[in-house]
Amino acid sequence: MDDLLAAARATVERSYAPYSEYRVGAAIETADGSVYTGCNIENANYSNSLHAEELAIGSAVRDGHREFVRLAVSSAARDGVTPCGMCRQTLSEFCGPDLPIYTDGGDPTEYTLGELLPDTISPDHLGA
Ligand code: THU
Ligand code: ZN
Repeated sequence: MDDLLAAARATVERSYAPYSEYRVGAAIETADGSVYTGCNIENANYSNSLHAEELAIGSAVRDGHREFVRLAVSSAARDGVTPCGMCRQTLSEFCGPDLPIYTDGGDPTEYTLGELLPDTISPDHLGA
């Protein structure tokens, strides 16, 4: 848990969040042990903002990874931020309900994707 949270925490430093001033970092580990990181990148039109988890998983998929084993998320406030609803759904495209998700509160906490997003639509429903 600590190694992946450290990678997420380090990536908070790269966040571009001049509007919300809420800086987030994420780190996702692939099945072959690679770690991809992401930070939130805001935009003057607000709705174009990228979330840290989107950037992390998107970069990994860009490089050909489609299997993931763990995710960690951290905010500069270390308030135990969890992936938002949209990012949970993005994760569910490639990750099963057992994916461990680590958050960086005063006491780092481990959730699973299934706990945070039960019974969602997935590729299985579409026969993909
Ligand atoms: N944010 C993330 O990057 N990931 C999350 O899981 C929660 C929210 C970003 C979006 C926005 O730039 C800022 O945090 C405030 O919502
Ligand atoms: Zn999100």
